[in-house]
Amino acid sequence: MSVLVTGGAGYIGSHTCVELLKNGLDMIIVDNYVNSSPEAVRRVEEISGKKIKTYDCDIRDTEKLDKIFSENSVDAVIHFAGLKSVGESCSQPLRYYDNNIGGTISLLNAMTKAGCKKIVFSSSATVYGMNNISPLKEDMQVGGTTNPYGTTKLYIEKILQDIYAADNSWSICLLRYFNPIGAHKSGRIGENPRDIPNNLMPYISQVAVGKLKCLHVYGDDYDTPDGTGVRDYIHVVDLAVGHVKAYQHILEKTGVDIYNLGTGHGVSVLQLINAFEKVNGIKINYVIDGRRLGDIATCYSDASKAERELGWKAERGIEEMCEDTWRWQKNNPNGF
Ligand code: NAD
Ligand code: WQD
Repeated sequence: MSVLVTGGAGYIGSHTCVELLKNGLDMIIVDNYVNSSPEAVRRVEEISGKKIKTYDCDIRDTEKLDKIFSENSVDAVIHFAGLKSVGESCSQPLRYYDNNIGGTISLLNAMTKAGCKKIVFSSSATVYGMNNISPLKEDMQVGGTTNPYGTTKLYIEKILQDIYAADNSWSICLLRYFNPIGAHKSGRIGENPRDIPNNLMPYISQVAVGKLKCLHVYGDDYDTPDGTGVRDYIHVVDLAVGHVKAYQHILEKTGVDIYNLGTGHGVSVLQLINAFEKVNGIKINYVIDGRRLGDIATCYSDASKAERELGWKAERGIEEMCEDTWRWQKNNPNGF
């Protein structure tokens, strides 16, 4: 039996494939490389010493997916494939709804036809919206998303819940990630933004490597200890390990289970810059700028449910996240 990993060539997907292979699990990747490179898969093979069966396929192509399911014995799907840029989703909402929601519906149709009813889905802390107070818990009300990207995550969660309500033999795990950063220890795989990064850590590392001149800190007048935004940064390898646990969990039971994957701790923008500078011995040039539209002051998880029910806990600290990010960035200044 194999796990089918959609978006397995991407940032979180590639790290998850390493962990799946490390645990002796068979897997296949489906990706159309819209935001990734086949080179990432090659490097996962290099790290793990195993060959991976890979399909260049857009998940909106249901017929092609049908064929993939008929050629392989798939017991579960880990579904990463999706577009993820908040800003781009505001300027191209239809593309985001079509790719993320259309792609998921196509995948679910193919899974239903193949009789495969187990799925782990990449959701996001963004579904908690602007009004919940951290630490965020899985039973808090979701909604009030502020951009089409976030809304696709909210709708897909709802679609998956409706599918289970109609057919109780499904086994579904919704994983709400907080802020994944870091890279594999080898420095061979990591986050590879195609354009100027929107997210804080890839921006910091591109300033460090000299590709960007200066980081803009979006606001120092928030109600936080140092005035800058506070987030729950989680090492991508911890996140990847969480997927192995979630996969094992859906094999054992039916239902819809929701888990936060975070550390449970908040770190401010200035704290992250300081940690990066200290661990790597590099000065990060930055200026304080105005607030970014749509940002909130503080967002971190209560991650105790995943620990209780999945036996998973984030183990890597902020220094390790900074060190591993830098190893990846300095060895691969131009990505893959
Ligand atoms: P990524 O862009 O690196 O990976 C996504 C992968 O999906 C890419 O390889 C891309 O080529 C592929 N893909 C996209 N649309 C596809 C399609 N229609 N058919 C086939 N392949 C397709 O992003 P990531 O950071 O690894 O994120 C993975 C998932 O986790 C995404 O769904 C994202 O929304 C979600 N997520 C990411 C974060 C984050 O901060 N990185 C936070 C929360 C949730
Ligand atoms: C973190 C902090 C910024 C860039 C986003 C998505 C979310 C999820 C993860 C997918 C904030 C500050 C940032 C910069 C800065 N993705 N910042 N200068 O906004 O928490 O979450 O990525 O699901 O949906 O919204 O992450 O890394 O963009 O920002 O000062 O150049 O860094 O204001 O306080 P965010 P981020």
